[in-house]
Amino acid sequence: MLKPAMRRYTQGFDCEGMMETQQRTGSLTLIVNGREYRVETPPERPLLWVLREDLRLTGTKYGCGEGECGACTVLVEGEAVRSCRVRAGALGGKRITTIEALAPVGGLHPVQHAFLHQQAFQCGYCTPGMVMAAAGLLQKTPHPTEQQVREGLKGNVCRCGTYPRIVAAAMDAAKGGRS
Ligand code: FES
Ligand code: FES
Repeated sequence: MLKPAMRRYTQGFDCEGMMETQQRTGSLTLIVNGREYRVETPPERPLLWVLREDLRLTGTKYGCGEGECGACTVLVEGEAVRSCRVRAGALGGKRITTIEALAPVGGLHPVQHAFLHQQAFQCGYCTPGMVMAAAGLLQKTPHPTEQQVREGLKGNVCRCGTYPRIVAAAMDAAKGGRS
């Protein structure tokens, strides 16, 4: 059975879930991971579904669909955003980065490296969103205090409870100064 947010989308409700809409498909150009994609989609459709279903970039995870868990976090112009809550049609011309292209080919981003070093995951479902949120945070605040890291990541949920390791990893990455 579909989760409520997905069911709402597939039934044709808008991404706020407030009203039923007649969604018209249009042609949209998105710049994802440095590549230009032309997609046929209703502009109201959340970016998350365009990434996962149309572009097959499934590293970005579906958690709540309500902007509450951070599993779907990507970077838009370097800033962490929840892809389940942003309309694809609002992103024309903006640089979107997903977990698949955070690091150079064959390498790891400093945050990914630090997550591995600190073993900051158990099941790993929240990890792409956590890594993207931490990368966005360090881009804005390259040398955060631990409190700033906690604040910056507090909207990202880890059901396995690996928060202390996640914070330690983000601090490690910041100390490396390579965000
Ligand atoms: S799936 Fe987007 S915040 Fe939970
Ligand atoms: S590692 Fe399992 S949800 Fe975070």
